[in-house]
Amino acid sequence: MSLAYRLARPALFAMDAERAHDLTISLLKSGLVPPAILGAGGTDDPALGQNLLGLAFPNPVGLGAGFDKNALVPDAMLRLGFGLVETGTVTPRPQTGNPKPRLFRAVEAEGVINRFGFNNEGLEAFAQRLEARRAAGLPGIVGANVGKNKDTADAASDYVIGIRRLAPLADYLVVNVSSPNTPGLRSLQGRQALGDLLNACLEARSSVDGGAHRTPLLLKVAPDLTEDDKIDVAEVALASGIDGLIISNTTLDRPASLPPDLRAESGGLSGQPLFDKSTSVLRDFYRLTGGKLPLVGVGGVGSGAQAYAKIRAGASLVQVYSALIYHGPGLVTAIKRDLLSLLRRDGFTTITQAVGADHR
Ligand SMILES: Cc1cc2nc3c(=O)[nH]c(=O)nc-3n(C[C@H](O)[C@H](O)[C@H](O)COP(=O)(O)O)c2cc1C
Repeated sequence: MSLAYRLARPALFAMDAERAHDLTISLLKSGLVPPAILGAGGTDDPALGQNLLGLAFPNPVGLGAGFDKNALVPDAMLRLGFGLVETGTVTPRPQTGNPKPRLFRAVEAEGVINRFGFNNEGLEAFAQRLEARRAAGLPGIVGANVGKNKDTADAASDYVIGIRRLAPLADYLVVNVSSPNTPGLRSLQGRQALGDLLNACLEARSSVDGGAHRTPLLLKVAPDLTEDDKIDVAEVALASGIDGLIISNTTLDRPASLPPDLRAESGGLSGQPLFDKSTSVLRDFYRLTGGKLPLVGVGGVGSGAQAYAKIRAGASLVQVYSALIYHGPGLVTAIKRDLLSLLRRDGFTTITQAVGADHR
C-alpha cells in the first residue's frame, strides 16, 4: 500500500462507505491528486500486452463496473495503470437507486456488500461524456456496461436503447443481467430469455451505422448459477455470436467469515469472500465454452497471484473493484508487477500463453 493511501485510508474508513466513494470520485475528477501519489506506473511490459476483441490491451488488469457508474473519471482511472476501464452500469433514464445506506464494508474479510440498485445519471449524460473523450482523441480502452431501469417492463428495450447510443462511443459493451439489486434482472440469464435478449442486443449493435460499429459485446453473469444454468448460458453465448463473457458479478452468498450484522444486509457481496466462487465459475465457463470465447475474470482480485490464478483458470483479462477500497490505487501497479514475475517464473513470455493453462 502506498504511503499516501496508508494515510488517507483511516479518514475514508471513518466515513460512510458511499460518502467515501463519492469523495474519491470528486477528487479524481478535480485532477488535484498528482499521479505520483496515486501510484501510477509507466509503460507496461510488452509481455502483459494482448490483442483481443479487436483491441490492443496494454495489460490485462481492468477496473470493474460500478466504480464509475456515470463515466465521470475513466481517464483518471486509466492513468492509474489499468489496461481497461469499464464504466456504468448505465440505464436509459436517470434513477436514484435504493435508499441509503446501501454500501457496507466487511473490513476484516476485505469484502463489500452493496445494494445500490443502478443509481445513475442516465444514458444521455453518460454518452455525452464518452463523446467528449472520443472527440478529444483520448487514448485507453473504455467499456460501457448497460442495464435496465427498475420500472421498465420490456427489459430488452432498455438494453437496445443503451447499445444503440453507446456502440459508436465505447470500446466494448457489456450487457449486465447479473446485478442482484434490480428485481427480476437475473432471470434474464435463463436459456430462452437470454437468447432473445442477446439477439436483440446484437441486432441493435448492427443497426448502428449499418453495422459499421462492431463494438465487441460481452455478457456479464452472476456467480450464483446452478450447473444447468451454466450449461445454458455457455451454449446460448456461443450460439448467439457475442464476443465474450464477464465472470462474475457479486454473490448473494453470506459466508461465515462475515460478521453477523453484515451477513444480515441484503445486496451483493464482493471482494475476497467472492474470489474462490467466482474463479470456480470462471473455470467452469472456460471448460463449457471450450476456450472459444474470451473471458474476463472478476471477483476478489487483490493481488498479482489472484489475477494470475484467474488467467490460468481461463480469463484473458481480469477486473478489480473491491480490493481498491482496501489497498488503494497503487494496487494496480503491484498486481501488474507480480503478474509479470509469475508469468516469467512459469516460463510464459506472453499473457496469452497463460490463459487457461490450468486446463492443459
Ligand atoms: C459498490 C459496487 C457497485 C457495483 N456496481 C456494479 C454495476 O453497476 N454494474 C456491474 O456490472 N457490476 C457492479 N459491481 C460489481 C463489480 O463490477 C464486480 O463484478 C464485483 O464487485 C466483483 O469484483 P470485486 O470482488 O473485485 O469487487 C459493483 C460492485 C460494487 C462493490
